[in-house]
Formats: sequence, C-alpha cells, structure tokens
Amino acid sequence: MSARTSFLALLLLAACSPTPSTPAPTVEPVVVPGSSGPPVVDAVALARARTAMSTLGTTLKGTLVATMSTEGPTAAMEVCSQDAMSLTATVAANTSVTVGRSSLRLRNPDNAAPSWVQEWLEGQGERPAENVEGQQTTAVLADGTAVVRVVAPLPIEAPCLVCHGPNEGRLPELTEALTAKYPEDHATGYVIGDLRGAIWAEAPVVDSGLELVANGDAKWPMDESTREAIGELRTALAGPALTDMPATAALAEGLDASLTKMVQGCTMDGASHDQLHHFLGVFFPTLDALKAATTVQAANDTRILLQVQVIEYDMFFE
Ligand code: HEC
Repeated sequence: MSARTSFLALLLLAACSPTPSTPAPTVEPVVVPGSSGPPVVDAVALARARTAMSTLGTTLKGTLVATMSTEGPTAAMEVCSQDAMSLTATVAANTSVTVGRSSLRLRNPDNAAPSWVQEWLEGQGERPAENVEGQQTTAVLADGTAVVRVVAPLPIEAPCLVCHGPNEGRLPELTEALTAKYPEDHATGYVIGDLRGAIWAEAPVVDSGLELVANGDAKWPMDESTREAIGELRTALAGPALTDMPATAALAEGLDASLTKMVQGCTMDGASHDQLHHFLGVFFPTLDALKAATTVQAANDTRILLQVQVIEYDMFFE
C-alpha cells in the first residue's frame, strides 16, 4: 500500500465505521406479554442490540479495508453506498435484530429512521454532538413483541468531511460519483463536531420459557459435574451468530455431549434436583428445535433462546 493509499484507507476506515458512544448499560425492565419470567431477558436483548450495532460497524470496516487497498477511495465510497444497506439487512437476517444508521439530513432515502429514532433525532435537532447522549428504552410492538431499543449519536469527525463536508474542495471524481448516486443528497456541509445522525438497533426480548422457583434468598445448590456442564453450555452458546447449517449441527452436537455428561454425572437429589429437571425439561426440547432448524435464521433464533435459558439458570442455581 502506498503512503497516500494507506492514509486514505485510515480516513475511510474511520469514516464508514463510526464508533458509537456507549450509552449507560441499564434499561427499564419490560414484562414480556404472557410470561411470568424475571426481567433478566432484557439484559440479553440489550447485549444483542449492542452487538448488532458493532457488527454493522465491523463488517463495513472489513469490506472497506479490502476495497481501499485494491481499488482506491471512490470505490470505497461505492462500498459505503452499495454495501451499507445490504450489510444492514444481513445483520438483521442473521441476528433477528434490526439495525440502521439515520439522520435528519439524509443522503440515502433508504436510511429513513423508524419513528422512535426519528423522535430521538428531532429531540436533538441540528447541533454539535458534544454532550449528546444515547438512549436505551423498551417498548411493546403492536404485534405484542417486547423489544429493547438502543440509539447512539454519530458525530462528524475529520474523516467524515471527505464525503459529508462542504462541496467546495472535494475530490472532483468523488463529487461526481456522489451526485450521480444521490441527486437528493442532504448530507453535505457539515463541520467537525456536528451531530451527523444516529446508529440504532432494536432487539426482541425473548421469553425463556423456564418457570423456575426461587430457593428463598439463596440459589439452588448444584454438584460439581452439573456446574461444569453448564459452564460448557454457556461457552458453546457465547460464540458469534451461526452462519451456516454445518455450524448449527456442530453446536447442537457439542451441547448434546455436555448434557449427556451432565445427566450421567449427576449426584443430586431433593428440591434442587427437581428444579434442575425443570430446566432440562425446557432446554432439551429447545435443543431439539435447534437440530430441527432448516434455516440459519431459525437456528439463530433458537440459539438465542438457549442463551436466555442458560442466563436465567444462572439466576436460580449456584
Ligand atoms: C467515502 C465517503 C464517505 C465518508 C468518508 C463518510 N460517509 Fe457517511 N455516507 C456515505 C454514503 C455514500 C452514504 C449513503 C449510503 C449509506 O451508507 O447508507 C452515507 C451515509 C451515512 C449515514 C446514513 C444516513 C444517510 O444520510 O443516508 C450516516 C449516519 C453517515 N453516513 C455518517 C458518517 C459519519 C459519521 C462519517 C465519518 C465518521 C461518514 N459518514 C463518512 C459516504 C461516506
């Protein structure tokens, strides 16, 4: 890479993958309609929303780095232009989280904000990004789905000016490409420090299906072998989203092996053993659903449910 190219690569790297400032890690609990489960699932939904947001950034970054080094800056703009939308859709398809970037001054009309993001944007107005804070909220959609919503501000930094700054002085070849692609471009004329817009994500809150009973103020005691097996489940489920069916099969096989070990090594009895059976009575069928999944989307939805079940397990068992 030449010095000039690598400088531009750095610029564009920063440009197309803005790091959202981190909102406070708390969110109002939401009661999942028709569920009696504890609100811990909010934390899972929140983590998924935030992961989807950074996945969008990281994926754009990877594609851009590759394009910059092989094809140069205008091509990188094309990547921003073409791939941003399809990457957004891909993140949504693979994680069942909706994500996007938006602004009061849109370049691409397809980035129009959903109403709750639009409300946030209008609440901020056109202003410097300094002291603008992100927001985390919960809501119940018209179809009864409870969701966690995260929005974070995107400030204009020096590299953004290449494509969002004043029209004067821009690389002519870039201006030409932008005008051709976005005749209705409202996203120029920004100065450093301006609030450019927002990155946002919406994740459904998942009901774990477990109906565990608390052990007074204490957690249910577990034997060594069970703790070990649950640790394995947690680790296996913590990986990135599944991308194909062989990965799904491998995950199911690993979970199966851990559960078999757990059942064989179990030395427990009494009330905590009964509670463990409560857990297994729901976890096993969910694992069967993972094995029966025929699409990556279905597999990931089921995987998320398994994650939620293990997190809820942690709340009740030591
Ligand atoms: C190489 C040119 C380029 C640079 C540099 C660039 N952008 Fe963009 N930006 C685009 C293009 C093209 C679009 C429209 C396509 C898309 O990404 O959806 C866009 C869209 C956006 C959007 C979505 C809203 C809309 O107007 O469509 C946001 C938000 C955004 N850019 C923020 C930034 C920020 C913040 C920076 C700097 C950190 C930056 N951009 C740097 C080219 C660029």
